[in-house]
Amino acid sequence: MPSVCVVYHSGFGHTKVQAEHVAKGAEAVEGTEVHLLPAEDFKAPVDHQYGPEWDVLMQADAIVFGCPTYMGSASAVLKQFMEHSSGAWFGAAWKDKIAAGFTNSASWSGDKLNTLQGIFIFAMQHQMVWVGLDLMPGNNSSTGTPEDLNRVGCFSGAMAQSNADEGPDVAPPEADRKTAEHLGRRVAEAAARWGAA
Ligand SMILES: Cc1cc2nc3c(=O)[nH]c(=O)nc-3n(C[C@H](O)[C@H](O)[C@H](O)COP(=O)(O)O)c2cc1C
Repeated sequence: MPSVCVVYHSGFGHTKVQAEHVAKGAEAVEGTEVHLLPAEDFKAPVDHQYGPEWDVLMQADAIVFGCPTYMGSASAVLKQFMEHSSGAWFGAAWKDKIAAGFTNSASWSGDKLNTLQGIFIFAMQHQMVWVGLDLMPGNNSSTGTPEDLNRVGCFSGAMAQSNADEGPDVAPPEADRKTAEHLGRRVAEAAARWGAA
């Protein structure tokens, strides 16, 4: 049974919604075990020993990392998690696990690509296998609409845009939630295929 972990940070709930939809997409693939995990729950190793909260990641087939874009890059809480993971990096403990990423911000660009690239490089340092988003960009032609999946237009991972004056009950909107689900499903399918090889 492939195991997919979704490790996320969310300061005000918007990226949590996105993370929940990544998890929902992964759960839609039969036989997938999904874990939705706040990044702040992973404590720093003590004397090079990881606490039991890390076990689920060590055993995962796939880990999806996500956070809001704050000041043009990954939020500090996810960065903290990344640095805590350096002990796993030493032993190449996550080598060959599937990886993917998502981020959310208020502006359409908001410099979100920088966040995803940071997550991508982090995954590459762990020798993971990156899975991007297999959706053509939406909402970029005269026939496009804001309801199109991948309306922000990214191939590297799932992006969402949440209006700064709206709460997580409505932002990010449905199209971005469905886009996140699509990524989660793709990751679960990739984990099943990769594991079967
Ligand atoms: C400290 C801080 C920095 C931010 N920096 C950016 C930014 O660089 N680009 C942007 O578009 N939005 C930025 N925002 C807006 C957030 O990305 C946006 O409100 C997002 O929906 C927050 O997600 P969350 O509710 O999961 O924390 C910033 C917000 C905060 C609090």
